[in-house]
Amino acid sequence: MSSEPRPEPAGEAGSLLERLASLQLIVVTGKGGVGKTLITATLGRLLAFRGRTVLLMELDPRESLHHLLDVAPSGGEIVPAGSGLFLQNLQPRQVLDELVHERLKVGALSRRVLGSPIYQQFAEGAPGLKETGVLGRTLRLVDGHGPRVLRRPDAIILDAPATGHGVSLLRAPSLVAEVVRSGPVGHLARQIAAFVADSQRTGIVLVTSAEEMPIQETVELVQDLDSTLGRRPELVIANALYPPYSDARKPTRQSPALELWKHRRRINENQLARLGREWGGPLARVPLLPIDGGPQLLEAAELELRTALRAATSGAE
Ligand SMILES: Nc1ncnc2c1ncn2[C@@H]1O[C@H](COP(=O)(O)OP(=O)(O)OP(=O)(O)O)[C@@H](O)[C@H]1O
Ligand SMILES: [Mg+2]
Repeated sequence: MSSEPRPEPAGEAGSLLERLASLQLIVVTGKGGVGKTLITATLGRLLAFRGRTVLLMELDPRESLHHLLDVAPSGGEIVPAGSGLFLQNLQPRQVLDELVHERLKVGALSRRVLGSPIYQQFAEGAPGLKETGVLGRTLRLVDGHGPRVLRRPDAIILDAPATGHGVSLLRAPSLVAEVVRSGPVGHLARQIAAFVADSQRTGIVLVTSAEEMPIQETVELVQDLDSTLGRRPELVIANALYPPYSDARKPTRQSPALELWKHRRRINENQLARLGREWGGPLARVPLLPIDGGPQLLEAAELELRTALRAATSGAE
């Protein structure tokens, strides 16, 4: 397992981190490859250090969170992953199947239903059903119906699928509730939709790189969240930024590496300026770190994000 989260100097906690620590579900989303998984793990450590018991929930079958946390893959179970931290890789279909199994109780009957083509088609094809199942699982956990290993996490951080799917994930329960108006499924979908819509319980963190396409998607996502859910993200994290170029480091002769650095940094700055014109809320900046991956990257990212959240809170950027 990775080392213990670093102590936070007393009184330095920014209100942004406090706000994040007050939530029961944080959904981390953004374009593919921008650092959602790294940010999920990093936020998890920061909140665990504040005394929260945090479950990191990963939906990606490629399972990568455990590499950062230096633990074995979760294999679908909730497993400990460091002080105050737990990890689960959850397959949306698995959640639905478990629900059927739980409701039908009789093993032979549930096997027949689960194996039937009608159920297969329904589970795969009904819009929003699997996503609603996943969010329903998070609600059950924070309401204290978890397994013995983690009866009630204080917070769940959901490493959500890339941008478009992230919005459909959040929109799913209200869609299901609109279609299924009565009966236990309709009731449950309404409860889950209310949980997702409740800004005291659920928050959204958008991760982006400061490149043209990811920033474009981030701006669209902010608009989409507003128009479809009436929600604003808690925070946008601009990740993997090239460090500022300093003239003091200027070598005497032309260096292609330096030119590349300046070029990438300029793109970052232009795109951050563009983001700033569209997004007036908190923005945290995390640099590109010269570390391949694993727990060392997580530890370094933790320090950076802590500082970035403080700066975002005070508007000191
Ligand atoms: N700030 C950073 N510094 C250095 N490496 C980073 C940083 N952020 C992310 N990375 C690296 O970039 C790669 C992509 O990051 P990550 O897996 O967290 O992205 P993702 O958004 O979860 O991707 P996907 O959409 O494929 O799930 C990883 O190898 C990760 O270690
Ligand atoms: Mg990922």
